Amino acid sequence: MATILAIESSCDETSIAITREGKLLANVINSQVEFHQKYGGVMPEIASRLHCENISLVLKEALEKADVKLEEIDAFAVTRGPGLIGALHVGLQCAKTLALLYQKPLIPVHHLAGHIYANEYNDVLSFPLLAVVVSGGNSELVIMKSHLDFEIIGGTRDDAIGECYDKVARVLGLPYPGGVPIDRLAKEGKPTYHLPRPLIGQDTYDMSFSGLKTNVINLVHNLEQRGEQIRVADMCRSFQDVAVGVVVSRAVKAIKQYKVKQVVLAGGVSANSYLREQMKIECQKLGANIIIPPMWCCTDNAAMIAKVAEHLYERKVFANMDLGVDSNWSIENWNDFQNSSDL
Ligand code: KG4
Repeated sequence: MATILAIESSCDETSIAITREGKLLANVINSQVEFHQKYGGVMPEIASRLHCENISLVLKEALEKADVKLEEIDAFAVTRGPGLIGALHVGLQCAKTLALLYQKPLIPVHHLAGHIYANEYNDVLSFPLLAVVVSGGNSELVIMKSHLDFEIIGGTRDDAIGECYDKVARVLGLPYPGGVPIDRLAKEGKPTYHLPRPLIGQDTYDMSFSGLKTNVINLVHNLEQRGEQIRVADMCRSFQDVAVGVVVSRAVKAIKQYKVKQVVLAGGVSANSYLREQMKIECQKLGANIIIPPMWCCTDNAAMIAKVAEHLYERKVFANMDLGVDSNWSIENWNDFQNSSDL
């Protein structure tokens, strides 16, 4: 294994990590969340600008923390997609410049593969594996039969689950990002509001969250119009039961159908306490092993990008200097670049 420097800038975290022989030496994260809070979501233009302002400082800090010099890096890895186009470009330009300057390979990494491989900091992956990828931008069920072999068996037909948490939080007057306050309040509430389950009775691994979001918004507006007090904790609990219920029911179906040995949770929403608890219970019932990522690995960070990059380095999956970002890159196409380094 090698010394790898990985860069993540797909959304609102500028992060650089350095690993050596698989060991994490530094993982510096600069979060922009406070700048986006007043808009109730990430403003793409502001995100790009802040990445530009911060990336050199994050690089300097990561090198200092790891006590590594740029000359010692064997490969530069970067999130190539999916994510916000402008934000992704900042990380990519930084990685390309470093690769060119030090004449070392450039490794393009899929962001969701990063979320999945973050679990390798906790345990060894074993196959067939089901990855439950739930974040602010994605909700996907991915089957892996071996390393770097990704098959998407189901995804959201509309909004991502995290986006839905954030919108519901906004209508309830809770801060952004909405996942944490909803998770906390749901523990104090009861599921007293009726919210229909999306795609109920349909034989599919797909999920849908936009109808659920609209149901909460309409219910809140109706209650307000009638002058009724909204029981926020009960609303959070009612919403969370349905949102997490959708994910868990699809995951259970997949574990049985694909004879899954191990389940991994991945992405920002995998920090959700109810999802963690429910998935543990279901996996125990079905005899599947489960890896729950440590909290520090749930939000975006470059350590997870470095983990994938270690596997890609072994296989020499390197990119040319004309590499561009792909904001909608499918995880099934991660391998577009096998052996295409022009350095
Ligand atoms: O993975 P992530 O940092 O962003 C993307 O790459 O998309 O995930 C952020 C999302 C936000 O929507 C946030 O509300 C949600 O993860 N989130 C949670 C929790 N903590 C963060 N959702 C539910 N429960 C949580 N405890």
